[in-house]
Amino acid sequence: MRVAILSPEAVPFAKVGGLADVSSALTKALHAESVDSLLILPLYDQIDRSGLKLFDDELGAFWRGRAARVRVWQSDELVAPAYFVEAPRYFNRGKIYGDADDHERFAFFCRAAIALARKLDKPLDVLHCNDWQTGFASVEMKRLRRHDQFFAPTKILFSIHNLAYQGLFDPQDLWWLGFSDEKNVFMSNGAASALKAGAMSADALSTVSPRYAREIQTPEQGYGLDWLMRARSDRLAGIANGVDYEVWNPETDPHIAANFSADDLSGKLECKLDLLRRFGLPQEPERPIIAIISRLVAQKGYDLIRDAARGILDTGAFFIALGAGAKEYEDFLQSWHDVAPHRVGIYKGFAGEPLAHQIEAGADLFLMPSLYEPCGLNQMYSMRYGTVPVVRATGGLDDTVQNFDSTTGSGNGLKFGPYSAPAMLEKIREGLYFYNQAEVWKTIQQNGMTTDISWSAAARKYIQLYNEMPGPQ
Ligand code: ADP
Ligand code: GLC
Repeated sequence: MRVAILSPEAVPFAKVGGLADVSSALTKALHAESVDSLLILPLYDQIDRSGLKLFDDELGAFWRGRAARVRVWQSDELVAPAYFVEAPRYFNRGKIYGDADDHERFAFFCRAAIALARKLDKPLDVLHCNDWQTGFASVEMKRLRRHDQFFAPTKILFSIHNLAYQGLFDPQDLWWLGFSDEKNVFMSNGAASALKAGAMSADALSTVSPRYAREIQTPEQGYGLDWLMRARSDRLAGIANGVDYEVWNPETDPHIAANFSADDLSGKLECKLDLLRRFGLPQEPERPIIAIISRLVAQKGYDLIRDAARGILDTGAFFIALGAGAKEYEDFLQSWHDVAPHRVGIYKGFAGEPLAHQIEAGADLFLMPSLYEPCGLNQMYSMRYGTVPVVRATGGLDDTVQNFDSTTGSGNGLKFGPYSAPAMLEKIREGLYFYNQAEVWKTIQQNGMTTDISWSAAARKYIQLYNEMPGPQ
């Protein structure tokens, strides 16, 4: 089975959030299950080209009324091939998203990606699109396969990693982008929506956890598209992400101060001391560290942390935050650090992967008080590293974390329900109460470290979905 994964991000090439981890891990995990998987990405200027080889130097892609010539590069770093569409005009921006012409940039990417798929030796069995940036490819494939035999067998899966980002733009642009015939599938509340069009055109939909698949069918979490999610609910699967054990493994991780395992957690102390040093905090290892790594956006629950800031410090814990995003939250972190420089360590900005690993390894509790969370990855990385996640019961956080029950000793983390600072604080305090009982704490840590959250289980669910979803009508 040949599956092309289209994504705007993938590690180790280009990353803004979890989609990057998922795109690469799924491509690799499918390959390991004998799927002929390949990944297609834009060639952003930040990508190191030294490891790439030229795959095609004159791919013809129809664009804005004429045939554009595009160069395509290839990397074998993931074992399965990754292809990169070069377009300096669109992708040499010094950033991945955030320009007024993002819809044009990714419409171009999709056109070129399909032209690339057309040139491969074998047709695709599945075109697997991810998020709004690839919605144009879903539309284009549906159109092409009606009259192009090469694509006649190709099924289209559209995966939603975050329904809140819909790629909205002025419908007038549909004309010169070459999608005027599909205006109806794009139109959503007066704007053109790349996500809606992608979801409408696909043969099946998926999202990144079973609970989020249910949540997006409700007006509260449907961002204006809950009607579509309900209408397509028989074709909407929820498959939770996994963890790439090659990348996130405390036994072999090259980024951390000492390796450790579920059987021998002793190295974690060295990681903790190293983390305190990195954030300029005093070497007081008996004090627990609560950490967070996330985009600084309302989704991630920073309002709760701001409201509970005082209460968190009153517990006696250190707080370490790594995040980039909205200025209001960066300012909050800065002011929190300024009032308690010996207790609050911050890194504002997007750090390289090593720092994220060092935080996961050195922290005791990992906080994810998300307002909503399609899946979330750091709660699972935390479990792998014996760092106990404290999460709000929403989306994939609810599916992947089981609240610890001290009477039975079962559960791999701590979960609270209401989106409120007092509820979060109460759960943190409960966590610290367990932290102070070494044996109980070790049980929670080991429960997390031995939970099977590998990608291979998720990859097999995708393969089943690819096989069972309907094809072209
Ligand atoms: P989302 O995709 O919504 O941002 P996820 O939990 O799925 O949330 O994934 C976030 C990913 O991005 C994780 O791999 C996390 O370590 C990483 N990450 C988030 N913010 C930063 C940052 N400022 N620096 C480095 N890595 C970050
Ligand atoms: C999105 C979601 C996050 C999910 C990630 C990967 O960015 O916000 O919850 O883990 O995609 O699927």
